[in-house]
Amino acid sequence: MADSKASLSIDGNVVAELPILKGSAGNDVIDIRTLGAAGYFTYDPGFMATASCESEITFIDGDKGILQHRGYAIDSLAKQADYLEVCYILLHGEAPNRTQYDEFKGIINNHTMVHEKLVHFFHGFLPDAHPMAMLCGVVGALSSFYHSDLDIHAPDQRMRSAHRLIAKMPTIAAMAYKYSIGQPFVYPRNDLNYAENFLHMMFSVPAEPYVVSPTVARAMDRIFTLHADHEQNASTSTVRLAGSSGANPYACIAAGVASLWGPAHGGANEACLTMLNEIGSLDRVDEYVAKAKDKSDPFRLMGFGHRVYKNFDPRATVMRETCHEVLKELGIQDPLLDVAMALEKVALEDPYFIEKKLYPNVDFYSGIILKAIGIPTNMFTVIFAMSRNVGWIAHWDEMLGQPGQKIGRPRQKYTGEINRKFIPLSER
Ligand code: SDX
Repeated sequence: MADSKASLSIDGNVVAELPILKGSAGNDVIDIRTLGAAGYFTYDPGFMATASCESEITFIDGDKGILQHRGYAIDSLAKQADYLEVCYILLHGEAPNRTQYDEFKGIINNHTMVHEKLVHFFHGFLPDAHPMAMLCGVVGALSSFYHSDLDIHAPDQRMRSAHRLIAKMPTIAAMAYKYSIGQPFVYPRNDLNYAENFLHMMFSVPAEPYVVSPTVARAMDRIFTLHADHEQNASTSTVRLAGSSGANPYACIAAGVASLWGPAHGGANEACLTMLNEIGSLDRVDEYVAKAKDKSDPFRLMGFGHRVYKNFDPRATVMRETCHEVLKELGIQDPLLDVAMALEKVALEDPYFIEKKLYPNVDFYSGIILKAIGIPTNMFTVIFAMSRNVGWIAHWDEMLGQPGQKIGRPRQKYTGEINRKFIPLSER
């Protein structure tokens, strides 16, 4: 429903009347769908000002540092809900009552194991394969196990895929870790909650009992929640685009895993810890801040800056509190946290960062917490992917449930050669 119109005039001639559409919050959008007929495309590399879809799942206000899932503020969810509740909210739009929560938890528990044949996919990887490479390959391979009984236009079958993916991601992620350290895979235990089960599959060994630390499990669950969804970020947009062609949801999620792996996106938490280790000590912080400001130096402060947040990332605020809680409760003095705090202080006071509105983002503190709870650095982005999996699948499901859903097919500004005569090789 158009609330008002934008007139596009070129050299004084109106070439298009474009409806302006209002959402329930955030920027109004200019509906440009008729612009092609007028002989024009919009040009927006990196999609800096492009709304690619209509969604009810997550709202971000980058200037005010607001993040809400189905209208619920992220700090309330992180502190008062667990990750499975957040999964239910993202998928169904409402907070579950006790019966709905218990039923949902029971369904997820029924899907935590993977087919025994899936185990063999791991043995094709070299021992030093990056866990993200394994996650990408094995999640994609899930397509081959469920392709036949999957009608993506049937809501109940889409929801069964969502349940399978939410349930199996921790199992597969832990298997990637176990394979990388040469230990036996650990089966899930349905008497444990989601975060406890993941830690059990990651760290228990057949040789001795493993007791999950409640502090670590609570921190893990909060990290899952803080990474669950984030509007139309690069990896979610990747999943939507892959899903728009009707591709199998497991293949779409594998595409999301691949996109998230980049250091500009989900790979930033691993890159941030690598950077803190490289900085190493407080007396080198200024040197690295100078590098980050030097235009001739490609170095960037990992964990700083955001396409949308031009204020503090609200997840970083919760993550910072959690970071201090976990280190205190576990009695850990981490010199990297001292370096991180010094980096944060310098960056927040430095005119370069203030002018460019570069604040610590969600990845800045998550790496330090994950390190504190014993997660190896090369598993950081795997954990991000495990968390974001529910956001990806919620957007995939929402898109396929929308009337008139079309395959995504952007156009371009062509700057190459045109109408060249081809000379056969024999004559060249
Ligand atoms: C995530 O989209 C999402 O929602 C993502 C995410 C999610 O939950 O899905 O929030 C998760 O990906 C968080 C971001 C993690 N990435 C990093 O921490 C990597 C470091 N940060 C960046 O590379 C960068 O800030 C981005 C990629 C996050 C955002 O880049 P933009 O919006 O394209 O901005 P830009 O690259 O055009 O930078 C604007 C200016 C530039 O300077 P000028 O050319 O204008 O002079 O700011 C500078 C950049 O050089 N800049 C930085 C910087 N980030 C941007 N300078 C130093 N250090 C940095 N980290």
